[in-house]
Amino acid sequence: MNDFYYNNRRRIRANQHIRELAATVQLNHKDFIQPLFVDESISNPTPITSLNEINADTIHSILLQIESDLQKGISKFLLFPVPAKKSMNNFDYHFIVNTLREIKKKFGNTVWIAADLCLCAYTSHGHCGILNAARDKVLNDESVKELSRYALLVAKAGADCIAPSDMMDGRIGAIRDTLNENQLDDISIMSYSAKFSSQFYGPFRDACKSTPGNNCNIQDRKTYQSSLFNKNDAILSTLRDIEEGADIVMVKPSLPYLDVITELSTMIKHPLAAYHVSGEYQSIELLAQNNLVERDKAHLEVWTSLKRGGANIIISYAARHAKEWIEKMEY
Ligand code: PBG
Repeated sequence: MNDFYYNNRRRIRANQHIRELAATVQLNHKDFIQPLFVDESISNPTPITSLNEINADTIHSILLQIESDLQKGISKFLLFPVPAKKSMNNFDYHFIVNTLREIKKKFGNTVWIAADLCLCAYTSHGHCGILNAARDKVLNDESVKELSRYALLVAKAGADCIAPSDMMDGRIGAIRDTLNENQLDDISIMSYSAKFSSQFYGPFRDACKSTPGNNCNIQDRKTYQSSLFNKNDAILSTLRDIEEGADIVMVKPSLPYLDVITELSTMIKHPLAAYHVSGEYQSIELLAQNNLVERDKAHLEVWTSLKRGGANIIISYAARHAKEWIEKMEY
């Protein structure tokens, strides 16, 4: 018999029907989380120029955005505040607290809101924690204490989930304890547990006005975010956060760290989120704007690879298109 009949791989690729049947991975819009920005210093929704199609919302326009997203089949959100005032300490959280109250008043449990928890949008220097007097070190325990205070306020305001993105040590345990002591044991924690010091956060920092380095003597986040040269640190940091009580863990950015996603997915039984971050999203958008890729297909390809790599949950700026794009996706 000719070898061709035995080695034929093209039979399984021959048409869309058999490609669908042979697929080893499926996308489902229910696995998606849509990031949202709410900015205290604007009075109308304002396009974020570095993030195509994404607006900074006001406390009012965010309600309309959520309503429209619900109609598109997206009900889970990751909420980022952009407060008007920045300072070194004594941060004022009333804007995000009020925003959460308004969202929950209008939508109740039809939406699931994870409140991103970090100090970088509040600090005048843009770092994710409180600095020492010489402004050359991010203080761990002082920052964790402040984050716990912040977590309690947003949990009381109605957040369904607290999502600490600061990368201090011990914050998951401290926040879990604080929530439990206040009868908020139903509130879950999604830890940015394997968050790498990355180039791909650029557009986000524009949106949140949180580029680190002003007003201080540390120019990058390398002393608290994971190093791209050390996979073990990201794995250990994730296992540690699970021990401290994280319900969901995360790898961020996503595609450049697919190896970390895959390794974690074989090690842990917790839901694993992949955050396709601002710079990753915007690179597809810019390619699409130049007619170098088809926008929907490029996002679908990345999402499929994140799923295939082992992620359960996908955080994407294009999440609100997931249902429509997945439905008409061609295999
Ligand atoms: C920091 C934070 C960052 C993002 C979310 N929260 C990154 C950073 O500035 O280090 C990035 C999200 C994105 O790029 O989409 N707390």
